[in-house]
Amino acid sequence: MATTNIFTKPPRTPLIGASILAADFAKMGREARSALDAGADFLHLDVMDGHFVPNLTMGPDMCRSLRRELPDTLLDVHLMVTDPGRFAESFAAAGASHFTFHIEAVEDPVALSETIHGLDMTAGVAVNPSTDVSRLMPVLSHVDLVLLMSINPGYAGQAFMPDVLAKARSLAETLRPDQRLAIDGGVNALTAPACLAAGCDVLAAASAIYGSADYAESVAALRGGAGLVTGTR
Ligand code: DX5
Ligand code: ZN
Repeated sequence: MATTNIFTKPPRTPLIGASILAADFAKMGREARSALDAGADFLHLDVMDGHFVPNLTMGPDMCRSLRRELPDTLLDVHLMVTDPGRFAESFAAAGASHFTFHIEAVEDPVALSETIHGLDMTAGVAVNPSTDVSRLMPVLSHVDLVLLMSINPGYAGQAFMPDVLAKARSLAETLRPDQRLAIDGGVNALTAPACLAAGCDVLAAASAIYGSADYAESVAALRGGAGLVTGTR
């Protein structure tokens, strides 16, 4: 999967991910397809265990069903669970393209990144708003993507935390050109321009897409005036 993964395939243009957390779960196949037809580049699956975060959401079965419906779509799983490594194999078997774990939830992030790559997925590391980016340094060269949380993880529909943009600016200077900088939480038409200006090139959004009456208009608004990313970052 990693060779055709749009997180690593050039040219590096800003990508919009539809987080299905705010979709109507009773119509998931249709909801997923609608967001992609509306211009979203990939689907973001929020996996929560009621332990690392207070909410419970979805697991590998949701991923497997979406993979069956959408054989060519990048499926990005965001693990907000304690000890996410337990689930790497099952998500790979369920067709996940990309696996993001939280730095706060693992003991050996480098080993987990290698495990993820060995399972033919790209690897991402996420960081909560209150966690210092210095925690990421040992694993930074081993991942394909860094996911900055701009809300406290657990629920869709929360307000964007603008302080996170300072982290984005510093990481944007540190990451290699082949690494992605993603942001997740409260991203909408009003906050997306600042995220892109701070160097983020992957935006994940739930409410801004699924809470709107016109998904295509919302995806276009998230993308804003962003064009091809040039230069190193
Ligand atoms: C929150 C999830 C986010 C969430 C974003 O824990 O990781 O992906 O779905 O929701 P919005 O875009 O509504 O803030
Ligand atoms: Zn997420």
